[in-house]
Amino acid sequence: MKISKNILQLLHEQIGIEANASNYYLYVSSWCKVNGYDGASSFFQNHSTEERAHMLKIIQYLNDLKIDSVIPQIQKPSQKMKSLEQACKISLDNERKVSQAIDKIINTAQKENDHRTNFFLEWFVHEQIEEEDLFESILQKFDVIGRDKLAIHEIDKILEKLSHKSS
Ligand code: FEO
Repeated sequence: MKISKNILQLLHEQIGIEANASNYYLYVSSWCKVNGYDGASSFFQNHSTEERAHMLKIIQYLNDLKIDSVIPQIQKPSQKMKSLEQACKISLDNERKVSQAIDKIINTAQKENDHRTNFFLEWFVHEQIEEEDLFESILQKFDVIGRDKLAIHEIDKILEKLSHKSS
């Protein structure tokens, strides 16, 4: 096998992390839709699709190395969303955890001189910088614009624009 068992296990875990992220964003998209945040719903739905693409990227990497990938069971997201701001805060926390998980695989790959995995994960490092910055910027909007109904409506419109940008 072209990668170690250790790296394989970490990559399989990462497939699960990306799948769970996709599922979480799908839930948030649905919650936004039924609560009147159409722009945010589109934004999170696109994000769900992006996370699925991340998962597929890892599966493709393993398949390119002629290694079977384990398709994980996905977790049911918590059904206790209370606000759009909370959804964005949880998203940022989740993205930070994803970044840590990617760092862990890179650290392991570097220790093992696994240059191909190290190189493969570079794309994810850039992606995580963008994702954390994205949710930090969205959360800043709540401080700048406000949290009353009109302000949230404005933020929903901003998320609508962002959803066109990323699609
Ligand atoms: Fe694929 Fe947003 O982490």
